[in-house]
Amino acid sequence: MHIAKTVIGLLLTVIPVAAVTREADPVVRERQADMKAMSAVAKSLSEFFSGKKPYDAMVFKSQARSIGDLGGERLITHFADVVTADGSQARVEIGLERTKFDKLAHDLAIYARQVAAGASDGDTMPSKMRMRPAEMTEGGPFARKRKEAPDVDSYSSEHAFHMMLQTCSTCHAAFRVRR
Ligand code: HEC
Repeated sequence: MHIAKTVIGLLLTVIPVAAVTREADPVVRERQADMKAMSAVAKSLSEFFSGKKPYDAMVFKSQARSIGDLGGERLITHFADVVTADGSQARVEIGLERTKFDKLAHDLAIYARQVAAGASDGDTMPSKMRMRPAEMTEGGPFARKRKEAPDVDSYSSEHAFHMMLQTCSTCHAAFRVRR
């Protein structure tokens, strides 16, 4: 009885210490900083598309590529060891559905790179960067099931951008705690 109490006492003291260590985990802060950076870049790109900001090919391409760099392997690595932690909105499902999580991270990078690859030079956004009518049905209720690896080489920059944003939302819906 006495021993059991001591063990429970030990457990109770150990748990909060572990939680504090995890809260301070730099990887959580780092992945949240990456997410915030992607969010800022996505907003900037959407302003280029909407015309709120004049098109600037150099900035546009490098911003799109930056999401390519922050997605993929880098994003996956940020969730490889620490999943749930104090101060984190990551859901335990990340550890249980790695294949799905990793695929979304890779898709994000693939779409982001196509946003850049489909971008033109110059200081006006040409119509070939814009979503084509055939692309508008893709991903809709009557769309064919997407292939395992999305064939994005032919996507217009804008379509790739929409697919990229959809990937942010799909991953958050499955793997991020709702506020
Ligand atoms: C593969 C999954 C995945 C993808 C893709 C993804 N996110 Fe996240 N995102 C998460 C997870 C998980 C968290 C919670 C991280 C945490 O709190 O530890 C998160 C958190 C965030 C946050 C909150 C950061 C904070 O300060 O707490 C923002 C903002 C965000 N994501 C934006 C984006 C944007 C924009 C994109 C697309 C360009 C994106 N995310 C793509 C999984 C993803």
